[in-house]
Amino acid sequence: MQKVMNMADHKVVCWECGTEVSDPYANLCPKCKGLLTVKMDLTQAKSMNPEDLRKTPLGVWRYAPFMPVDEKNKVSIQEGGTPLYSTKALGEAVGVPDTFVKFEGLNPTGSFKDRGMTMGVSHAKELGAKVVGCASTGNTSASLAAYASKAGMQCAVFLPSGKVAMGKLAQALFFGAKVLSVDGNFDDALALARKMHDERKIYLLNSINPYRPEGQKSVLFEIIDQLNYEVPDRIILPVGNAANIWAVYKACTELKEVGWIDRIPKLTGIQAAGAAPVAQAFAEGTRDFIAEPNPETVATAIRIGNPISGKKALHAIYDTKGYCTTVTDEQIIEAQLLLGRKEGVCVEPASAASVAGLKKLREEGIIEKDEKVVCICTGNGLKDPDTILNNVPKPIPCKNEVADVERILKEQ
Ligand code: F0G
Repeated sequence: MQKVMNMADHKVVCWECGTEVSDPYANLCPKCKGLLTVKMDLTQAKSMNPEDLRKTPLGVWRYAPFMPVDEKNKVSIQEGGTPLYSTKALGEAVGVPDTFVKFEGLNPTGSFKDRGMTMGVSHAKELGAKVVGCASTGNTSASLAAYASKAGMQCAVFLPSGKVAMGKLAQALFFGAKVLSVDGNFDDALALARKMHDERKIYLLNSINPYRPEGQKSVLFEIIDQLNYEVPDRIILPVGNAANIWAVYKACTELKEVGWIDRIPKLTGIQAAGAAPVAQAFAEGTRDFIAEPNPETVATAIRIGNPISGKKALHAIYDTKGYCTTVTDEQIIEAQLLLGRKEGVCVEPASAASVAGLKKLREEGIIEKDEKVVCICTGNGLKDPDTILNNVPKPIPCKNEVADVERILKEQ
């Protein structure tokens, strides 16, 4: 048994035509312009069993034999290792009692993006990159800014003007990134960031960079590990730029390849009704999507009309006999409050979309009441206090005397 755990061998290939890609700056296939992916050599993992990994703490780097970056080069602020809550009260309220919530809001910068960023920035360090950048609806920029600080790199983030939640904006500024407020939506900001990458002015760390989803695979590894290798029936997660559902799918296929699981959960993607090209394609049964030019939703994290990894997301959904649907802004806010009131968990609106989707799909009979379901709640509610304050009661004015407190406590 090999005890030293570092990266597995790997190559970057075109997901669509299989061409091997050697240019480390390529984000698309030089031959067919297809999306790229990392093909892992899992020989080392095949010689191990899950127990071997448990010698290191729960977190992204526990799964180093499934990762394409040498652990010796890691840039880490202890990402991953987030709780998997058994959320029976929430589950009973929505009619699926065996429900769990994987709370990604407890990552170092408050979202799941840290899983991909530890991998992406470590790889950028291996390449000798000095300036990193990304477009973002907020969380990716907060995360990249933090990891760039840790790595001593310069960082530029491209944000859709006026549409980024306050907490996320504050984080990116706080960590010292150059924050560019771009005239346009996320899709416009990403197009600009990609131009900068193509001109080699920045090293792009959006999820079109195939190393990012590799780190994001770890959320699935952790869920299965935390359930002691009992595979849930379904995993539900919000879909924006559509890389995370792909990462979860890739992790499932790799665990199956090494023989640690024998079936794959139904992957179920949830989009906001006003930003739903993937759900639209699923409803029509197509394998590609038509971009939405004017995406709009209260869940600003997933306010995306032209998701880069949309085709990969659709593949993940079809191949696992999963599902994809939309939820309205009202359903998102209702689910966000339900999580807070039933479970004491505060997630941001995009993350609540997974729970809103669970409720809707149970009502529609797509999800059975006896399924074991994991909702991935991707980001912390404190990222977006404005939305919370818009949807909860105001503080109650109170005189500095006991009688007034008693009066207020008696009120309904
Ligand atoms: N949930 C949250 C909280 C997010 O921030 C995002 C994406 C998603 C879900 C969707 O994940 O894009 O992989 O489908 N946020 C990106 C950003 C776009 O810039 O922070 P996805």
